Amino acid sequence: MSRLAIIGGTGIEELEGLETVAAHNPQTPYGQPSRAIQEGRFGGARVLFLQRHGSPAAIPPHRVNYRANLWALRSLGASEVIAVNAVGGIAVDMTPGRLVVPDQLIDYTWGREHTIDDGSEGFLRHIDFTEPYDRGLRSALVAAAANAGIDCLDGGVHGVAQGPRLETAAEIQRMAGDGCTVVGMTGMPEASLARELELAYASVCMVVNPAAGLGQGPITLEAMRQVLLREAEGVRVLLRALLAARYGA
Ligand code: HPA
Repeated sequence: MSRLAIIGGTGIEELEGLETVAAHNPQTPYGQPSRAIQEGRFGGARVLFLQRHGSPAAIPPHRVNYRANLWALRSLGASEVIAVNAVGGIAVDMTPGRLVVPDQLIDYTWGREHTIDDGSEGFLRHIDFTEPYDRGLRSALVAAAANAGIDCLDGGVHGVAQGPRLETAAEIQRMAGDGCTVVGMTGMPEASLARELELAYASVCMVVNPAAGLGQGPITLEAMRQVLLREAEGVRVLLRALLAARYGA
């Protein structure tokens, strides 16, 4: 049976409502995952939950051990992964509070351990990444949102910046010109590693601020937190709806 894993981002420190039955600390060839992986029931289905920033949330985006996280989830039986990402809004309709299920991404990160295809298997592999998110899982997310009456945009381009600093106004203009509609820091290499590990992967992005130069004044963590506090419940409702529809008994 397919087992879903949820990777929580900023604002989803715990999966509220998860009835935990076990916590796992699997060893991986790449070291330790961000923290113990919880296994439990949520929305009437079995799920694995991992907070990518650790506990307390202190691992910055460029130091997350994405390889260990995804390897560990797969070793525990996950075949599908939903990632939750807090993002800044670039496109005009990407205002704070919006949820979006992106269908494309552009990777601006550098220096991260971004692949397991390092030739150690004795052959070359080049995964197809034309569509970075799993089509079926994306559709299921969008349908679950519609059924649960949650406003969630179907499609967007997730620009993944290196961080941990926020961007300059000019960087955001460049990303807008490239076609990015939202900007985050944790979408890569998570998405491509999932593909390498043959995990179906989709993301729900929460817009928590206008991207640099597009709002009033500087971007503050406090303003982001306020939006996250309001929005996180919508994400939980969406995840519960997805689990009930796709994995429920
Ligand atoms: N930029 C990059 N990552 C982010 C932002 C942003 O404006 N907001 C939340 N994560």
